Amino acid sequence: MKSFAWTLIPSLLATGLVLGGVPLSSVQRVSNLQTVPNKFIVEVDTVADIHGKRSLSPHENLYENLRKRAVGFEVNKEFNAQDLFVGAALTLNDEKDVAALLSTPGVKAIRPVTKFKRPEPVFTQSVSGPKDPAVPVDTQSTHKITSMDDRSLITMYLQGVDKLHALGITGKGIKIGIIDTGIDYTHPALGGGIGKGKKVIGGYDFVGDNYDGTNTPVPGPDPLDQCGGHGTHVAGIIGANPGNAFDISGVAYDASLTAYRVFGCKGSVTDDIIVESLLRGVKEGQDILTLSLGGSDGWTESSSSVVASRIAASGKIVTIAAGNAGASGSWYTSSPGNGIDVISVASVDNTVIPLQNATVGGVAHAPITYFQTFPLPVTETLPIYAISKDVTIPDDACNPLPADTPDLSPYVVIVRRGSCPFTQKLGNVAAKGAKVTLIYDNGNGFAAISAGNYKAALIQATDGEFLVSQFNAGAKVTLTFPQQGGSTQYPNPDGGLISKFSRFVCIELSTFQSLTDSFLSYGPSNDFQFKPSVGAPGGGILSTVPTTQGSWGVKSGTSMATPFLAGSAALLFNVKGKTAAVAKGARTLFETTAQRVASSRTDADPLQTVTQQGAGLINVYDALFATTSLSVGQLVLNDTAHFKSIQTFTVKNTGKTIEKYTLKHVPAGTAVTVTPGTIFPAKGPVPLTKAAASVTLSTTNFTLLPGLSLPIVAKFSLPKGDASTYPVYSGFIEVSSGPENLHVTYLGLGASLKDKQVLDNTDYYFGVPLPTILDNTGEVQAKPTNYTFKDQDFPTVLYRLAFGTPQLRVDLVDSNIQLAGTINPRGLLSHPFFTFPRPNKGGSFSKVKIVGPLAELDYIPRHDESADEGYTSIPVSTNFANGTRIPNGTYRVLVRALKVTGDATRQEDYESWLSPIIGFQA
Ligand SMILES: *[C@@H]1O[C@H](CO)[C@@H](O)[C@H](O)[C@H]1NC(C)=O
Ligand SMILES: *[C@@H]1O[C@H](CO)[C@@H](O)[C@H](O)[C@H]1NC(C)=O
Ligand SMILES: *[C@@H]1O[C@H](CO)[C@@H](O)[C@H](O)[C@H]1NC(C)=O
Ligand SMILES: *[C@@H]1O[C@H](CO)[C@@H](O)[C@H](O)[C@H]1NC(C)=O
Ligand SMILES: *[C@@H]1O[C@H](CO)[C@@H](O)[C@H](O)[C@H]1NC(C)=O
Ligand SMILES: *[C@@H]1O[C@H](CO)[C@@H](O)[C@H](O)[C@H]1NC(C)=O
Repeated sequence: MKSFAWTLIPSLLATGLVLGGVPLSSVQRVSNLQTVPNKFIVEVDTVADIHGKRSLSPHENLYENLRKRAVGFEVNKEFNAQDLFVGAALTLNDEKDVAALLSTPGVKAIRPVTKFKRPEPVFTQSVSGPKDPAVPVDTQSTHKITSMDDRSLITMYLQGVDKLHALGITGKGIKIGIIDTGIDYTHPALGGGIGKGKKVIGGYDFVGDNYDGTNTPVPGPDPLDQCGGHGTHVAGIIGANPGNAFDISGVAYDASLTAYRVFGCKGSVTDDIIVESLLRGVKEGQDILTLSLGGSDGWTESSSSVVASRIAASGKIVTIAAGNAGASGSWYTSSPGNGIDVISVASVDNTVIPLQNATVGGVAHAPITYFQTFPLPVTETLPIYAISKDVTIPDDACNPLPADTPDLSPYVVIVRRGSCPFTQKLGNVAAKGAKVTLIYDNGNGFAAISAGNYKAALIQATDGEFLVSQFNAGAKVTLTFPQQGGSTQYPNPDGGLISKFSRFVCIELSTFQSLTDSFLSYGPSNDFQFKPSVGAPGGGILSTVPTTQGSWGVKSGTSMATPFLAGSAALLFNVKGKTAAVAKGARTLFETTAQRVASSRTDADPLQTVTQQGAGLINVYDALFATTSLSVGQLVLNDTAHFKSIQTFTVKNTGKTIEKYTLKHVPAGTAVTVTPGTIFPAKGPVPLTKAAASVTLSTTNFTLLPGLSLPIVAKFSLPKGDASTYPVYSGFIEVSSGPENLHVTYLGLGASLKDKQVLDNTDYYFGVPLPTILDNTGEVQAKPTNYTFKDQDFPTVLYRLAFGTPQLRVDLVDSNIQLAGTINPRGLLSHPFFTFPRPNKGGSFSKVKIVGPLAELDYIPRHDESADEGYTSIPVSTNFANGTRIPNGTYRVLVRALKVTGDATRQEDYESWLSPIIGFQA
């Protein structure tokens, strides 16, 4: 799994890439695998599974067996949750012992330890403090949009969390574990303390401030979050007490929170710590576990995904973010959110953004909204000064201002956006004394500017053009920034649509990248699991931040949608009872009562693909009080080779009156997941077509007495479409009775996954065909070359994956091997980082004679086009993957990638590439 996490940075860098123009010289000839060398999470059989060994614990049994095999190891962590996960995180002293580890009796599975980057919200606006007691009541509009419908996106406010609060349903008695950066429990809205009787009842710090994902964690009892802030924002979405300056209330503000801190002040976290925190949450009796973290993956197999899924299957509710990597296209949802039974949460934009108004003096004009959550700290009324009289100027204030510019300190300076970074513009006006600056938009979109202590904000184009025209006409226009009462609810143009976080992107002074397209990740998983599951509001959410960071702030991302769902789950437990059965049915309930989300505001456009919206935007009220229940929430039709055209579900009348039901097929847009004519995933926003499956239902109109149910059979036929674009079709079977409107959601692929090319064999990314071997100068090795493996004299394997693979093998083979590669060249190799030697007994795969393995990797995600996640480079060392020295000789490297759904024992199910000759003279 890649540690793309929630950070914007990779996609940001991607916007600057000229493809085919990424220089080979940028490849660092070191391994960039996102796993921790020599560290593994080992799962063992429990005592009950081991005959006659009852005297030893499963852990002792494992260690004893390893010692017997002379394997040197260090135990990093032990896991001992019967029925969930029993095993240990081990670091081996010698990489060659992995084979011995795998063949040790009692070992069920070993998985590498992957790293997750820390969750960076897509947008943050940190603010100075709640100075505005006049903020309108119920600012947290998020409680309302969860009841919109797909025809009038933002009109139906009447049901939802606010209504449940009015009924006294507030999460009381429910325990929620938050696995994140900790919680600033000193925040007054979060109870101002920790311990029994408080809102935050406890927690644990697994890592310590200085932990960064590469050093040794220093655990401690105190999960206080004051250097991060992310976990505090998450905690406020679930649990902020009402009665604060903004009158925000958490979704389940009477729930009891526990803070599991897994991030230090900087850097990432490894999978073993996530597994440990999940198991501790279970042990400490959490009813709900929520994780706003992860890394783009596409597979369901990481340790934390597997453990989170087992916890969900055991009768807890586990909510995990789907990821913010939408810019990278389909098949790319995050782990551990990909865990099969967890609820993977998509994000929908809030309908309003809390912003500030400035009042206009000297001319009659409506207030001007500027993009700040809190008022700019400007107490005097100031005249305006426009740097340019031209409202179309492309590069206003990009150059030092002319010598005859007056002292700008008594003015609100007006500058047009465009051409150069905001810092440059602000630097130029500040050089002439300017203290307050408004930058008007040039059509790029209304967004936040984080200008540090400098007083600046963005205003809309029309407002800026008005001010400049008045200035040109000589009008004495002034602006006032009310310190109280200036708050306004700016209607978010994307409210109620799947989050396109660009609208909220915070343009940091330090980077000044133009951020365009980062948004919610697209599924499904490579093994065709239905991901994401459902959506919740996550764009532009005002919540608590640490008191050291100003106490309140707005953030966007699936990180923010996930706690909304966790809070909603607490309300569900309140209403339906805190039982394992309710927990296991939660996802189906939220999915079947969700509201479908449009792909745009244009009436003719199709509904958003299910690969991005899941079953839609949750409607908490309906989930709790609907009087119809559907037996399943998701129908997975799989690919064409495994097409499950016949699907069944039941409709039950759980109400007290006889109901008439009508069933209807409502297709969503078909996602064109691969760009036509290429092997690459289409980047987001993924193009949609109106091609739709057709569905025949066993009945469309029927009546049910209270308590009765009816099975429904749905027979699907594939839509027409170009299989080479891997079209994922999707939609809903709507079940309506009176005002109630539920649905089951379906998803299928109009192609066979086994046909999908995995290895990138083009020159698209580097301008040279891949895979390839780089020589000791970092250039493509064009002819047979001998290496001494001294200093820089070693080869490096370079490859990209256009699609995920369940198994990637890199082997050394005889240079004279008679084997035709299935793809025309391009490159690879590896250093002994890990290997899962598996016999693959029989089958054509094992007939290919290899000299020895260089790398054997399981469940590898595809690459994207970001600078640090765009490729894999693996330097070749003098050893095989199992640590044995490679004899002098001449070899080739054979790279094989198993196609999705392929049979691992069949050579024909792999794509393969054979390198030029490399000689070992070491
Ligand atoms: C803020 O300004 C906008 C634009 O003039 C206006 O529509 C809105 O009503 C104002 N809000 C308040 C609270 O004054
Ligand atoms: C889709 O089919 C493949 C091949 O049979 C199977 O491995 C996979 O689990 C299926 N996916 C789902 C979600 O059923
Ligand atoms: C089913 O009900 C719908 C809506 O009431 C109606 O338009 C349709 O004609 C009915 N179909 C059948 C087969 O009764
Ligand atoms: C590499 O080394 C082998 C063995 O010494 C030798 O036969 C071969 O000519 C060398 N190849 C090159 C390209 O130097
Ligand atoms: C490592 O792999 C090589 C090549 O396949 C093999 O000869 C050797 O025995 C293996 N070593 C161990 C310790 O398994
Ligand atoms: C391999 O070749 C190198 C360079 O010719 C030589 O120094 C080394 O001794 C050889 N190793 C073995 C085990 O023969």
